[in-house]
Amino acid sequence: MGFKIAVVGATGNVGREILTTLAEREFPADDVVAVASSRSIGSQVSFGEDDVLDVQSLDNFDFRGTDIVLSSPGSKVSAVFAPRAAKAGAVVIDNTSQWRMEPDVPLVVPEVNPQAIAQYGKRGIIANPNCSTIQMVVALKPLHDLARIKRVVVATYQSVSGAGRAVMDELFSQTRSVYVADPIKPELLTKQIAFNVIPHIDVFMDEGSTKEEWKMAVETRKILDPDIAVTATCVRVPVFIGHAEAVNVEFERPISEAEARQALRAAPGVTVVDHRTDEGYVTPVEAAGEDAVYVSRIRRDPTVPHGLNLWVVADNLRKGAALNAVQIAELLVEKHLGKRRPATRSNVERLRTPDRVIH
Ligand SMILES: NC(=O)c1ccc[n+]([C@@H]2O[C@H](COP(=O)([O-])OP(=O)(O)OC[C@H]3O[C@@H](n4cnc5c(N)ncnc54)[C@H](OP(=O)(O)O)[C@@H]3O)[C@@H](O)[C@H]2O)c1
Repeated sequence: MGFKIAVVGATGNVGREILTTLAEREFPADDVVAVASSRSIGSQVSFGEDDVLDVQSLDNFDFRGTDIVLSSPGSKVSAVFAPRAAKAGAVVIDNTSQWRMEPDVPLVVPEVNPQAIAQYGKRGIIANPNCSTIQMVVALKPLHDLARIKRVVVATYQSVSGAGRAVMDELFSQTRSVYVADPIKPELLTKQIAFNVIPHIDVFMDEGSTKEEWKMAVETRKILDPDIAVTATCVRVPVFIGHAEAVNVEFERPISEAEARQALRAAPGVTVVDHRTDEGYVTPVEAAGEDAVYVSRIRRDPTVPHGLNLWVVADNLRKGAALNAVQIAELLVEKHLGKRRPATRSNVERLRTPDRVIH
């Protein structure tokens, strides 16, 4: 017997990718339902190659009987609905920033801290990290294990799909406007994105960083190691799908390029493409639609005793969001939920009594 899954935000960039990923990976689901805002009532979304799901409204959706909710409706919506879904017995795996830094909500990247999933019963919510954080920590984990990371300096080159469907449309229409010499009026982003780059993602914080930059620092520490110092500059670039990151890493212990390359090659979720030739590195266009976190341009930073530079690229909608969430769901099912639970008892109640979990 499989599970009942609800995808909340199913009409969005991340929700659609979640549906694709569930189907591709043959997630053990008996029933998958698509949920979005009441604006989407009457619309349909694809599930796998053959199925189409009618979209239901979140406003009156009854989560009783739902085992897992894969959620991406934005933070404000998640703040309200996720506790309601958890109370009804579902485990919510949430892509928004709403729950990530709550101490009793695990923040999980399966290749890095799968053990944290065990804490899911405290709130019935598991948080999926920010897309930029996910790809960076997947690449950093094997290097941290090898030589202990002290400090990371990262600059991101983030695609517009990271800001949702409507911002992809904004890049498309502005690009068209440039070609036909129409005036450009930024609507969702703060400045023109076509043929431009914008060093401003999410809101400014008091100390001058943007919230996206802050998220990369605090999330990395929560997932990987509270002692790692991270400083980030996050930039939106006119790319549809795929985030790239220039990552400078300073280690406590010596680490050679060859050792780093070998550790990265052996690491789960990482593909090393690193040749010092014209095409010997990966760009976002090539990473789009792929599951891997690609690492290229591995080289020593000679300005510090133990330093390396890396170029890290991944599909922000897949490993940066949907794939990571579905991998969490797979681990949850495999290690914690087991077979379908009896319908008479709420999951949250079960989760608080681990001795009763059926494996
Ligand atoms: N894109 C990424 O790379 C990425 C990565 C990690 C995390 N995230 C996070 O995931 C969330 C969604 O991102 P996205 O790129 O998928 O955005 P999106 O393309 O704009 O989609 C938003 C989704 O949320 C739904 N929604 C909005 N208001 C709602 C409401 N009141 N009730 C129910 N559903 C509602 C929308 O439904 P309607 O179509 O009915 O409006 C749509 O399905 C954001 O919080 C984002 O920060 C995104």
